[in-house]
Amino acid sequence: MPEHMTLQADETAGIDAYRRTRAYTERICAPLENDDYQVQSIVETSPPKWHIAHVSWFFETFLLAPFLPGYRPFHPRFAYLFNSYYETVGSMHPRPQRGLLSRPTVEEVYEYRAYVDEHMLKLLSSPPETRRDDILFRLQLGLNHEQQHQELLFMDIKHNFSVNPLLPAYRTDLQVEAGNARPVRWVEYSGGIQRIGAEGPGFHFDNETPRHGVLLNPWRLADRLVTNAEYLAFVQDGGYQDPRLWLADGWHVIRQREWHHPLYWSESDGEWWEFTLGGKRPLAPYQPVCHLSAYEADAYARWAGKRLPTEAELEYALDGHPLEGNFADSDYLHPRAASNEGQWYGDLWNWTSTPYSAYPGFRPLDGSMGEYNGKFMANQMVLKGGCCATPAGHTRASYRNFFYPHDRWAFSGVRLAEDG
Ligand SMILES: [Fe+2]
Repeated sequence: MPEHMTLQADETAGIDAYRRTRAYTERICAPLENDDYQVQSIVETSPPKWHIAHVSWFFETFLLAPFLPGYRPFHPRFAYLFNSYYETVGSMHPRPQRGLLSRPTVEEVYEYRAYVDEHMLKLLSSPPETRRDDILFRLQLGLNHEQQHQELLFMDIKHNFSVNPLLPAYRTDLQVEAGNARPVRWVEYSGGIQRIGAEGPGFHFDNETPRHGVLLNPWRLADRLVTNAEYLAFVQDGGYQDPRLWLADGWHVIRQREWHHPLYWSESDGEWWEFTLGGKRPLAPYQPVCHLSAYEADAYARWAGKRLPTEAELEYALDGHPLEGNFADSDYLHPRAASNEGQWYGDLWNWTSTPYSAYPGFRPLDGSMGEYNGKFMANQMVLKGGCCATPAGHTRASYRNFFYPHDRWAFSGVRLAEDG
């Protein structure tokens, strides 16, 4: 086990965390009807049924099969159906066809979850002493993996529902914030050689390591995200019609896909609306603009005479703030207006201008779990901070989320930066 993955948890804490995390996934799915579990609206999303089976496959493959003596898989073909991208484990069902799996049924997938849970609790209650560290490390990885899929469930359910002309609400009882916009305050940073990345005993993914020095020039960051009202001014100023504002790839994407505004916005009779997990709502001017691609975030920043922050600039700033914010447990499932203290963690993932690539000296985890992060280090961009659909406690300053620059179904937004 790599040094940076040292575990603090013992078996009892592990069992509690396992129970809590697995139960939360099922709470997220509780408002769904059986029909909702089946939908895959675009190739990037997965049906909820696939998500909740896949996270169970992860525990079955990386914990139960190697460590629980005599374990028999729940179903001989589930390893094929619910492997996501682990080529070293075996072949897999094509991702774009996950929505075609009407079998196993939702009920059978819940039986699969219960079977995996029963055996996981057996393993965790008496782990073989010689493999204890490996088991506890893989448990933590599996739980963090399931948390990532919890956020994906919110994202994917939202997209799945958005393509239905009935625009169903995932939840009708979500809190709705009545807020106010407030001016941006600019925070100055002096630059110099700063250290970024993770080290020490707390859990982090391999892609956050090793911690290392970076040279930063003086910079300033907005203390909150860009709002809907600010972004609407860009739309109404012809931002989507002016090629001078766009990266060439971005201009190509918005022309080809006929994008004229953020995902989930619509306009009728001069009124702007936004589709949310609580259904269609009037566009709230004071809330952060969300579901932007990196191209849109970048074009907005250029229009505003600013730029996107780099990953290092944002990580350094996040490190100076408490790890608090509007996460999934706040139960808005939508970004909120910035408070007077500023807006740092939560609400929306901040696009950065930094490509997702390896830190100097990066070493992926050994074996199949090395496929978790490292092999995706091409053509994607880093986002930081966490969002309103991120499980509380799942993110941190060094956390590196990543999406392709054209992706916009994640809860992504824009924070402005400028040179100091
Ligand atoms: Fe996964």
